Amino acid sequence: MATSISIIGIGSMATALAGRALAAGNAVQIIGRDTAKTNEVVATLDGATAGTAGATPTGDLVILAVPYSSAADVVGQYGDALSGKIVVDITNPVAPDMTGLVTPEGSSGAQETAKAAPAGAHVVKAFNTVFGHVLIADTAKGRSLDVFIAGDDAQAKASVSRFVESLGLRPLDAGPLAMARALEYAGLLEISLMNHGLANTRFALSATVID
Ligand SMILES: NC(=O)c1ccc[n+]([C@@H]2O[C@H](COP(=O)([O-])OP(=O)(O)OC[C@H]3O[C@@H](n4cnc5c(N)ncnc54)[C@H](OP(=O)(O)O)[C@@H]3O)[C@@H](O)[C@H]2O)c1
Repeated sequence: MATSISIIGIGSMATALAGRALAAGNAVQIIGRDTAKTNEVVATLDGATAGTAGATPTGDLVILAVPYSSAADVVGQYGDALSGKIVVDITNPVAPDMTGLVTPEGSSGAQETAKAAPAGAHVVKAFNTVFGHVLIADTAKGRSLDVFIAGDDAQAKASVSRFVESLGLRPLDAGPLAMARALEYAGLLEISLMNHGLANTRFALSATVID
């Protein structure tokens, strides 16, 4: 079943997710803060529409494809326009030296961002461990690409899972939103593997079931 999504941000993750979502027949709205730049990006994405920053997004799922440092501000700017929406936090709140996270001890970026969301919006962590270029190139062809999901609302997680499945990816429920901290550390682990042991960017984290 097709999902209607809005993506806030027009950078590499926004375009990677948008391209894959459109190819799978989902409705995609792109919202940037600069109208001219947004229209340029939308023109490269066959079937996408451009939204207006700050207005109510058309998508049931609203993907925050902005840096973690802007995420809470952006959610705050939209305010009640996000009421009733599923806000998908894909951010990696990684410190500049890439050896830790910038989030408070005992919390996660997703939980901090959720504090800025209006009542009636459900924040779900997802996609933060999938590199944008892997989503585009699908370098995991023939293998399962996992998208770990954390959130407190079962229906919101089910909606995100359906969207993930529509992209040909495997959603894996990692538990409540508090588990976003673990997912954000997993994102940090990937960045460290990229800079050390694997020394390349063409990989994805996945869970393997051993029968
Ligand atoms: N790249 C990846 O492989 C990857 C993988 C997993 C997760 N992520 C996460 O995905 C998020 C986006 O990453 P990216 O690689 O797509 O970054 P990016 O290419 O630098 O794009 C960031 C986007 O955020 C927008 N933005 C920044 N501050 C904003 C604000 N205050 N209001 C509205 N828009 C704002 C920028 O808008 P302008 O163009 O107007 O500056 C830009 O379009 C990050 O949180 C990152 O940690 C990335």
